[in-house]
Amino acid sequence: MYSEKVMDHFQNPRNVGEIENASGVGTVGNAKCGDIMRIYLDIDEDGIIRDCKFKTFGCGAAVATSSMATELVKGKSVAEAMKVTNKAVMDALDGLPPVKVHCSLLAEEAIHAALWDYAEKHGIEIEGLKKPKADIHEDGEEGEVY
Ligand code: FES
Repeated sequence: MYSEKVMDHFQNPRNVGEIENASGVGTVGNAKCGDIMRIYLDIDEDGIIRDCKFKTFGCGAAVATSSMATELVKGKSVAEAMKVTNKAVMDALDGLPPVKVHCSLLAEEAIHAALWDYAEKHGIEIEGLKKPKADIHEDGEEGEVY
């Protein structure tokens, strides 16, 4: 049911941990499954993501998607990191079973929350970035069944 890449990132997650004095930190959760994800970003003066770490209290797919998401945003500019959507993360993992799509959404939202934190601290606006929700289901996803 899981691709080899998902299994690999679940069993050997990359970039687990915290970043002290991170440029941005984002925490999101999903009230339905109770899983929580936190992403730390270290961003240099040129707006390049030098480092990215995560902590996930969640299912295997949440671990694998956060691991892949951190790999995808590392070395990228803030604008490029905005293109790391849950679909991009899923594609990089060779797909996820439909019931696990929401786990990849958690990764996208956690990155956005960390970018939002960074933007707020620096008084800047990041194109296309909206204020993140603490809970990805807090106002109900329209018609989506996970
Ligand atoms: Fe909720 Fe995976 S089951 S994040």
